[in-house]
Amino acid sequence: MQDAGFVKNAFAGIASRYVLANHVLSLGIDVLWRQLTARKVAEKQPRTILDLATGSGDLVETLQSACIGAQILGADFSVPMMREAQKKAFNQLIAADGMNLPFHDGSFDALTVAFGLRNMASWPGALVEMRRVLKPQGFLFVLDFSLPSLPVIRPAYLFYLKNIMPRIAGWITGQRKAYEYLCSSVERFPSGSDMEALILSCGFKSVKTRHLSFGIASLYVASVE
Ligand SMILES: C[S@@+](CC[C@H](N)C(=O)[O-])C[C@H]1O[C@@H](n2cnc3c(N)ncnc32)[C@H](O)[C@@H]1O
Repeated sequence: MQDAGFVKNAFAGIASRYVLANHVLSLGIDVLWRQLTARKVAEKQPRTILDLATGSGDLVETLQSACIGAQILGADFSVPMMREAQKKAFNQLIAADGMNLPFHDGSFDALTVAFGLRNMASWPGALVEMRRVLKPQGFLFVLDFSLPSLPVIRPAYLFYLKNIMPRIAGWITGQRKAYEYLCSSVERFPSGSDMEALILSCGFKSVKTRHLSFGIASLYVASVE
């Protein structure tokens, strides 16, 4: 659970350098995670997709190539972040808070949220809202950071997360504090079976987890029915 005002300011501050920082900090692996997510979305053949917390539109860009013919809408509560998406010539954007989405019940076949749920004011509140706007046959795709469980990799990753990542991100964006927060949020965010339990408690019928890159990130695919 996060403070919405702080999160908004944090993303406004890093918007113009967010994509560069992402690629440097993840050594480009984030691109592969989004590609995998987009492939999984395409397998469900959705006609309408909401990419929530769309930010700079990186996932939307990948979804556009994978889900040809689908109507894709990006939503985010940070206008500066969405300006970055517009620079990629993506204009199907709406300013909206994930905690209170301006859509009717059952509006979308698929809802994707990449590195966004972790930053929302209430994780269960946001998930219930996501489920509400999905059609009964719809699917939710949550891509986010998680903590590796392997004994050697976990402490090494935690060290990187706490000591190295905020410093490098600070050099790139000039906003070290924002990244100290973003990195610390990864530790607090539920993952694996905890995230599955959370998703199921918010009314989804089933959920499957795929751990990516030793569990540094995870993709959760949940079905409404
Ligand atoms: C780390 S960025 C992720 C951007 C993009 N999805 C990606 O894959 O890179 C997180 C985004 O979540 C947005 N966000 C955080 N809380 C939100 C909320 N309550 N409603 C809508 N967007 C939110 C932020 O503004 C930011 O653009």
